[in-house]
Amino acid sequence: MIKHIDAASHTRGESQYIDDMWQPADLLHAAVYASPVAHGKIVSIEMQDALKVEGVAAVFTAQDIPGRNQHGTIIQDDLVLADKDVHYIGEPVAVVVARTPEIARAGVKRVRMEVKESPGVFDAREAYAKGEIIGQPLTFTLGDVDSVWEKCAIVVAGSTETGGQEHAYLETQSARVIPLEGNTWRVYASTQSPTAVQKTIALMLNIPFPQVEVDVPRLGGGFGGKEDQATQWAAIAALSAWKLKRPVQIVLSRAEDVRMTGKRHPYSSDFKMGLSKEGKILAYEVKMYQNAGATADLSPAILYRSLFHATNAYYVPNVRAFAVSCRTNLLSNTAFRGFGGPQGMFVIEAAIAKAAEKLGMAKEEIQRKNLIKEGEMFSYHQQVNAPRAERTWDEAMQIYKISDIKKEIQAYNDKHYETKKGCAVMPICFGISFTTTFLNQASALVHIYTDGNISVSTNGVEMGQGVNTNLTEITARALGVRPERIKIESNNTKRTVNMSASAASACTDLNGNALLHATAQLCERLYTFAASELKLADKAKVAVVAEKVLYDGKETGWNWDKLIISGYLNRVDLSAHGFYATPNIAFDAKSNQGNAFAYHVFGTAIIEVTVDCLRGTYDIDAVKLVHDGGSSVNQLILRGQVEGGLAQGLGWMTLEEIKFNEKGLLLSNALASYKVPETYFMPDDIQVKFLEGVDNPASPFGAKAVGEPPLMYGIGVFFAIRSAMQTFSPNKTFAFNAPMTPERVLMELHGDYLKEVQR
Ligand code: MTE
Ligand code: HPA
Ligand code: MOS
Repeated sequence: MIKHIDAASHTRGESQYIDDMWQPADLLHAAVYASPVAHGKIVSIEMQDALKVEGVAAVFTAQDIPGRNQHGTIIQDDLVLADKDVHYIGEPVAVVVARTPEIARAGVKRVRMEVKESPGVFDAREAYAKGEIIGQPLTFTLGDVDSVWEKCAIVVAGSTETGGQEHAYLETQSARVIPLEGNTWRVYASTQSPTAVQKTIALMLNIPFPQVEVDVPRLGGGFGGKEDQATQWAAIAALSAWKLKRPVQIVLSRAEDVRMTGKRHPYSSDFKMGLSKEGKILAYEVKMYQNAGATADLSPAILYRSLFHATNAYYVPNVRAFAVSCRTNLLSNTAFRGFGGPQGMFVIEAAIAKAAEKLGMAKEEIQRKNLIKEGEMFSYHQQVNAPRAERTWDEAMQIYKISDIKKEIQAYNDKHYETKKGCAVMPICFGISFTTTFLNQASALVHIYTDGNISVSTNGVEMGQGVNTNLTEITARALGVRPERIKIESNNTKRTVNMSASAASACTDLNGNALLHATAQLCERLYTFAASELKLADKAKVAVVAEKVLYDGKETGWNWDKLIISGYLNRVDLSAHGFYATPNIAFDAKSNQGNAFAYHVFGTAIIEVTVDCLRGTYDIDAVKLVHDGGSSVNQLILRGQVEGGLAQGLGWMTLEEIKFNEKGLLLSNALASYKVPETYFMPDDIQVKFLEGVDNPASPFGAKAVGEPPLMYGIGVFFAIRSAMQTFSPNKTFAFNAPMTPERVLMELHGDYLKEVQR
């Protein structure tokens, strides 16, 4: 097992991001003037003062765009630069290009825009009531909820809120565009979607796709924030470069990035759940109102995933799940690890918590009773295959001794008045595949050089998640060579084409399988050649293991170097293109039924907290989990992803609060006023165990995708804190509103009193 192949260069600060690459002497820098008002008609844009700033080369607006002013992928409502109207505070309106980034920003300060303001809508439910929706509302139906309510022993209903989340990737949105000869353009971009950038720029400049080369060396984090939303910045740099025929770079400052880019979608939801007196869930109805912000972006696809995961890891025989994307005058919200799944899962966890209170049963008892089993069906009519919900649950309870945990908590709570401990169990179930079926394809290009070293290009973008490390492992195992032989190349639209976004946790599955398709061709050619050259009867018995050419397990005297150089001299093709399309998936977007996913990832986490019930502050004491990672390509990458995802989930549920004022101005507009979890916030005790002896035929070497699912373990912390609060104030009812910031804990516990004394 190798370490993350970027580990050394990252920690030494030697890894290069867009802004670190050597700059051409002629490089200009762009900065964006963004709308200061949430909604209105543009009356005029005044640029003369900006142009007077020494060092400013030009100012461009939508009027300068020769072709399509559009970067939307699902619905065409995302403008590169605002045209007639502005729709949110932070919407790019004009771009100032200058000798340095500082001068460009000085220029931005002198741009003036006159807007005829109109009222803005900021609340999802209000937007829905006004008919401001994006696409169509969606409904998933299984069984018939309406006929079941009466038969239920109890029915609970309620509402939930979950908040947005800032991606807080380390590298801000960045791109550099370099003019090449004859109206062709090289674009370095920090994007999860090289092809989307290529296509958007080509259509914007009215040129054929092959005239735009997009190259992505790596990302300093994406987390979904660069799946669609990196495109606009690359397009803005490309427009500037095209107008000036000079290289132009844009690198957003942290403040610009936070103020101008979309975040996780806040959801406001209603639920109704009916159960038997034994705690079996008989019916579940949910209505989710997604706050999309001003444009579609990926909102419709994200909305789908909220529905796919509306019943989490549970089997519910009767489901009606409704979701609608609501257009508001806020930043356009976008993909964020989990892609709508976490928002859907939070609601059913809240419903179960409420049902548990009404039934006088432990929440875990209801959760355990309803975990999905082999052959049972999700609300989208896909039967679950090899579910490991019960197995991860039971192993977690056993390994971590839940009864001891509960006893300790009880003992602590009996002794302490102002601080209380609480715990919660969080099972997860996450479907692997793009829910937009056609996106489930990838390609790879492998070259073997005559020194025996290997160049690998795929559609998989390295964003820190370790796809390049996994691809290195896969190539090494498939060809039987040392990992040091392998160079994973940047993603480049000239080497692999028509790339789906690197997203949906599917990079290693899709690109690893495409890569295996390419290496299989190389092996076939090389083994056939070796068999004929070495006079071996059966080419099927040839293999390369640890760089030695073996026949029927025995050494032949040839090694990898000899094989490659001999192959080259005998004119064997040492390059191969591989392609993969996930088989056996099909989802019908008309009936909202079908096998949307290649498989599901399962796991169970136990989360323990201590809450200071006088101050509202809390500590996360422990997270102990059992995760189904399949047989894993690389255990270190797997573990890193589980811990990283968990951290983001914990942050989303607790500290991270996006706030706007009543005019739609982002108040939490810096990392000083928006708190992301750091090492001190994370629990000292994090225990991660992986299911053993589990296979997964859909992924290279039996691994399972891991990128997004662990984020949803974090949901448990909300319920752990809530449980401690209930121990402190057993007669209070607490809202299902996340994030559960310390301020919210305090107000929920003592808000009435605090208001009283304030008066
Ligand atoms: N891990 C790191 N370090 N950086 C990232 O940007 N993105 C997450 C997840 N883990 C991300 C990450 C998201 S949103 C997805 S979809 C997956 O990685 C994408 O990569 P994968 O398909 O290789 O899991
Ligand atoms: N995940 C991430 N991105 C996507 C998806 C998905 O399921 N569908 C379309 N884009
Ligand atoms: Mo991940 S949200 O699918 O980029």
